[in-house]
Amino acid sequence: MYKVIERKQIVPNIHLLVVETEHIHKNAHAGEFVVVRADEKGERIPLNLVDWDERSVSMVFMEVGTSTSKLAALKPGDEIATLAGPLGKPTEKSEGKKIVCIGGCYGIGALNPVLRMFKANKNHVTTIIEARSDFLLYWRERLKEHSDELYEITRDGTRGVRGHINDFLVEHLKKSKVDLVYVQGCTYLTYLASETTRPFGIKTIVGLNPIMVDATGMCGVCRVTINGETKFGCVDGPEFDGHQVDWDNLLSRRKIYIREEVYSLSFYECERYG
Ligand SMILES: Cc1cc2nc3c(=O)[nH]c(=O)nc-3n(C[C@H](O)[C@H](O)[C@H](O)COP(=O)(O)OP(=O)(O)OC[C@H]3O[C@@H](n4cnc5c(N)ncnc54)[C@H](O)[C@@H]3O)c2cc1C
Ligand code: FES
Repeated sequence: MYKVIERKQIVPNIHLLVVETEHIHKNAHAGEFVVVRADEKGERIPLNLVDWDERSVSMVFMEVGTSTSKLAALKPGDEIATLAGPLGKPTEKSEGKKIVCIGGCYGIGALNPVLRMFKANKNHVTTIIEARSDFLLYWRERLKEHSDELYEITRDGTRGVRGHINDFLVEHLKKSKVDLVYVQGCTYLTYLASETTRPFGIKTIVGLNPIMVDATGMCGVCRVTINGETKFGCVDGPEFDGHQVDWDNLLSRRKIYIREEVYSLSFYECERYG
């Protein structure tokens, strides 16, 4: 069992969870995830690592269903049944590049270790965080520490630039030389950003969130098609080249495992929840 040090709602529907562990930090890298089980009868769910130290690891999660609702009810001192990781491949390192990093919903939190790693490797980092409205944006100051510049986008214009990521990204790419775009967030955001950068021919790395069960490469549930080849999100990813992802296949596979109304919610969860 793993003791909860902190669990708090950061903005509506999005929570920070800090759990005690002395082991995970020793092998943790940007871009990796952990598998969490709220209780012994619960499902195993994957969550990105957003921070870690000798005593704990932190995750940011969006409350969307049974397991994340159980996590959202945790209090300091409670215990969770499973905390396994770090899992997945780390984000590929770059040096001296101009990188645009984009985060939406839980992906804003997931950017934290990736920005830190890019900045430590002497890249020029432009961070863009986006949400439906001002009250759904978070960690501005924290992410700014690891960014050369930071832009905020809200669909209703209550903070930063009004609009969606694609409008802003097109304008930014027209005027700035960019070597790499990196995206964390829901499937809709990763898809939209990849399709926006495709005509510019700028390499775009996306953190995918296919359904996972064992997260060790055994069950095959997380398979995705990348450049025509089958890959497992949990061991070959979860980060892939967004221009090589078969998005239709990814979305239809997610649909197999969930009810129609939940499927629509997963694709448009940003639209509904921010
Ligand atoms: C590598 C990876 C990293 C992730 N990181 C984060 C993160 O940092 N923060 C965050 O909020 N979410 C993250 N997710 C998504 C998160 O795992 C799901 O939102 C969570 O499993 C939902 O569980 P639930 O029981 O609350 O919802 P459910 O009622 O089971 O489902 C609600 C939604 O969650 C999706 N989902 C359900 N089970 C899984 C599963 N096993 N794997 C992936 N998606 C699932 C469904 O498609 C649906 O859209 C990540 C997913 C992956 C694959
Ligand atoms: S989750 Fe089972 S192979 Fe990836």
